Amino acid sequence: MPVLLLALLLIGCGSAPADVSAREAPAQTPAPVPTGAPAREAPAADEQPAEHGNVLVLCFSATGTTKGVAEKIAALTGADLKEIEAAQPYTAEDLNYDDRATRATVEQNTPDARPEIANEISLDGYDTVYLGYPIWWGQAPRIMSTLVESRDFTGITVIPFCTSGSSDIGQSDDALAAQAGSGSWLQGRRFSGSVSEQELQTWIDETGKATGGSAMRLYINDDEVTVDWEDNESVRALLALCAEQPLVVETAAYGGFEQVGSIGQSLPRSDSQMTTQAGDVVLYAGDQIVLFYGSNSWAYTRLGRITDRDAVELAALLGGENVTVTIASGA
Ligand SMILES: Cc1cc2nc3c(=O)[nH]c(=O)nc-3n(C[C@H](O)[C@H](O)[C@H](O)COP(=O)(O)O)c2cc1C
Repeated sequence: MPVLLLALLLIGCGSAPADVSAREAPAQTPAPVPTGAPAREAPAADEQPAEHGNVLVLCFSATGTTKGVAEKIAALTGADLKEIEAAQPYTAEDLNYDDRATRATVEQNTPDARPEIANEISLDGYDTVYLGYPIWWGQAPRIMSTLVESRDFTGITVIPFCTSGSSDIGQSDDALAAQAGSGSWLQGRRFSGSVSEQELQTWIDETGKATGGSAMRLYINDDEVTVDWEDNESVRALLALCAEQPLVVETAAYGGFEQVGSIGQSLPRSDSQMTTQAGDVVLYAGDQIVLFYGSNSWAYTRLGRITDRDAVELAALLGGENVTVTIASGA
């Protein structure tokens, strides 16, 4: 990739497309979390992809760089690998960003351009999709919009990644998540074409924890407690929320049995009537987290359960007027 040429082009700006500003450092805000997506049934055994479980690495790559990274991710994860093929393949001239009249640049300047996909791409049976693409003028190529708008990601954890000359992933992952409107999208990551397997493995380990949710840590004020997290969409969305930086929730005592506080946005929910016990961690009304040191009967979505404190210890931790609950990703 002619980084220098591209940098000069971008600094020159005279011929840059109008949307070049999207190529700024990635925002710290997590990808939008779709709400209300119904939980997906586990695929039946005979629906499982034959060899590699339920993980797919899916990429579009015009000149092979993203495909190279995708191949490494697939090899490291043992996932299936699939390439998105354009019905009209991109020629070298189509990709010539020195000429703003060429195809790729014109498409990027046309937000509703949706280049056709040539091949069959089914997400059936997958619950994790690593989704890769090159950065074109700070965004994902429009063919990625064609893909995400025409597929149902419900029940799938989507892990975006990209390659570029130098730009970061910017808002491109957020934009795709919004266009998809389904699935649990984690914060994406940009790699150079020469990324090492070690760097990829570290990232894969992080995302693996993210998809399982089991490595989320929870602090009540300064005390870390052990939580047995549920494996559900709400927990995955919660983890996506704290993937970049810890989520801090200020809670207030309510009813003499719980601490409740706003998460700041809605998570997918599947409420059911339950009677909670001391130690239960639940989602209330989709956007509030509740930690119990007593019991209550209401419709909640279960998030997890504190396993290393008894009721007396929980009352001591949670019985005050206010506490600060911090949720962080990582082991
Ligand atoms: C039309 C076009 C626009 C590009 N825009 C950017 C950009 O904004 N920032 C950047 O760092 N690289 C940019 N690149 C470089 C590609 O992101 C980079 O070469 C990428 O690794 C190519 O991946 P691929 O081989 O999988 O297609 C652009 C390339 C093309 C063809």
